[in-house]
Amino acid sequence: MIPDLFSSAEDQEMLPLTDKLLESIDDHVAEASAAFIIRDLIKVIRYHDKKYYQEAGNVISDFDYDRLFARLKALEEDYPTHITTDSPTRRVSDALNEGFKTVAHLLPMLSLDNSYNLEDLERFDKRIRDGLPDDARIAYTVEPKFDGSSIALIYENDRFVRAATRGNGVEGDDITANARTIRSVPLQAVFSKEGIAKIELRGEAVIELSVFEQMNIERARQNEILRSEGKKLLEPFKNARNTAAGSLRLKDPAEVALRKLDVIVYQVGYAEDAKGNDITDNLRSSHAEYLRLLASLGFRTPGEAVRTFSDIKEVAAYCLEWQDLRDSYHIDIDGMVIKLDNIRQQQLLGRTSHHPKWAVAYKFKAKQATSVLRKVDYQVGRTGAVTPVAKIDPVQLVGVEISSISLHNEEFIAEKDIRIGDTVIVERAGDVIPYITGIVPERRTGQELTILFPRECPSCGHHLVKPAEESIWRCINPDCPAQIEERLIHFVSVNAMDIQGLGQEIIRTFIREGIIQTIADIYRLDYNRILALEGWKQKSVENLRSNIEASKENDMWRLITGLGIRHVGSTTAKMLASEVPLLTDFATWAKEDFTQLKDVGPKVATSLFEFFSDADNMVLIANLAALGVNIKRTEVQLASEKLSGKTFLFTGTLPTLSRDEGKALVEANGGKILSGVSANLNYLVAGEKAGSKLAKAQKIPSVEIIDEATFLQMIS
Ligand code: IVH
Repeated sequence: MIPDLFSSAEDQEMLPLTDKLLESIDDHVAEASAAFIIRDLIKVIRYHDKKYYQEAGNVISDFDYDRLFARLKALEEDYPTHITTDSPTRRVSDALNEGFKTVAHLLPMLSLDNSYNLEDLERFDKRIRDGLPDDARIAYTVEPKFDGSSIALIYENDRFVRAATRGNGVEGDDITANARTIRSVPLQAVFSKEGIAKIELRGEAVIELSVFEQMNIERARQNEILRSEGKKLLEPFKNARNTAAGSLRLKDPAEVALRKLDVIVYQVGYAEDAKGNDITDNLRSSHAEYLRLLASLGFRTPGEAVRTFSDIKEVAAYCLEWQDLRDSYHIDIDGMVIKLDNIRQQQLLGRTSHHPKWAVAYKFKAKQATSVLRKVDYQVGRTGAVTPVAKIDPVQLVGVEISSISLHNEEFIAEKDIRIGDTVIVERAGDVIPYITGIVPERRTGQELTILFPRECPSCGHHLVKPAEESIWRCINPDCPAQIEERLIHFVSVNAMDIQGLGQEIIRTFIREGIIQTIADIYRLDYNRILALEGWKQKSVENLRSNIEASKENDMWRLITGLGIRHVGSTTAKMLASEVPLLTDFATWAKEDFTQLKDVGPKVATSLFEFFSDADNMVLIANLAALGVNIKRTEVQLASEKLSGKTFLFTGTLPTLSRDEGKALVEANGGKILSGVSANLNYLVAGEKAGSKLAKAQKIPSVEIIDEATFLQMIS
């Protein structure tokens, strides 16, 4: 992810964590690490929910968001003991804005499951058919997926009474005053003729693209005046979606009125009659009829764009047709929504806590633009990896100006035959990480220049090396200034020592000012010098000091992560931290000792061995310890030593204990949990529905199979 786009401390924590999770999304996860990964996924998903729903600006693609979500769901399925009630898979999202009254939706506002191609749609179709009687006649309604901000409108006795944002799906912000200013929200609608006393409608607040353009023209005009008065200029609105979402949450309804929002209604959320009976699903027999009803009552609906099909292939074809049409449509859309048309069938299928089972979104492909590659810069990372970064003529893509894009490595450049002066195709899927998908050969003039990947480090001039099996050139000079800077930035980052108030810009300044040179210098800061720097006050210096002091007490795994050992992230660091009483003990380990560790392959073992055999690294650790940084394992208080030296594994459903509780009991009594059945296992505690682990254990005579009661007796 491109660091320049980082803003708050939270962004600086969450964006790298997002990248890390995405990079390892297909990796196998052992039970021991599952809890950590699930926790991180929850943290990251919540953050992106907040960005999307509350701050109205998403920072990853929907595709990647969906991948994170799917990963969380899969891990929770594999390790149900790690499911928490506040997981985003249990709730839609958690995003309430301060400053607005919170109101409950009459029924939860769900999200949609996603699909990206015909195969996904066919799978959806199969699920639908499997869930319905064999003779069910199936029809799908297909409508645009409007890219705005969801809104719920309530009418009571034919009057508009309340509007709310989606919020966390269960409760949202009360934005009634703002919604009243929107022309396409009728203040009265004759629901009573349908026997409806109270109804909640679901829709999307959007801004028509022509209106959006006009708004920016107006802003430019206002800026002329502001400029002449020497005042601060207004930023242009980035894109219609963010503007619609932001406008809904403005504090001043008069200001909202100027934004000319629209609401397109696409669903009845809940309806009741005068006696308070739920009649949500009894008004019409099909979704298409519901849309017609809403249109007849004066609402803006997806209208002519809606079609009904019985064959999923026709559905897919219609979606593709719209993918080509999307740019000429008058409202931003990011896909299509496919809904099972028959309401009774919808009821039969039901919903998950996240989405209805009878609907799916079809997401359009990323948007593209072309631009000219002017030059290539080379960035040196903390491990010395040199990354080429393309500088292109700025282009607008999904509302964001793009002028630099990673070219990954030399092979990528060669494979795509990218040259300086080439017209390149830039893609961006509603996210902040644009990528180059190729060049436009027809635009070649013959003047293009081959990109010569440097053989010397752009920071220190040391020659670069590229191991045969790798695609990345590296600077191997341990004193390379660029690497030192990146290492320091990594050391203080949130996944490592987590020193608040010491972000990358401050590290850069401190290096420039000669205040720090090495990691250990962080603990030897001359605070008087910092106080003399521009922008620093007594209070901020004090905060920095106390954060740095507090970091000395961090768990050992944070230090291990912070040391930036290649291939060792926080998950491995956590595992390592429980292996030795003192971090320096690793210096006595052979490479084979590292290989014995769970989840450590030869690559990681080699990296660890090399790191801890390097005298400079050991001096650094010793220096940090001398400066008060914790290098000791966090000792758990043992309840007893009764299980000392014994290994355990739990399988199946136990009568009273969850697996986590069992695990905690084993560890608290000095025992160890193994990840699988092997000859090293002493006891398998088996409950109901124990599966393959039990079968495997029965074949190993040394493994004793016990039940929960026997286990509890062992520690009583
Ligand atoms: S139906 C119960 N229809 O997409 C089904 N949603 O990614 C709920 N959206 O939160 C949604 N256009 O804000 C539906 N024609 C459409 C839509 C639509 C846009 C939004 C909606 C929802 C999100 C899910």
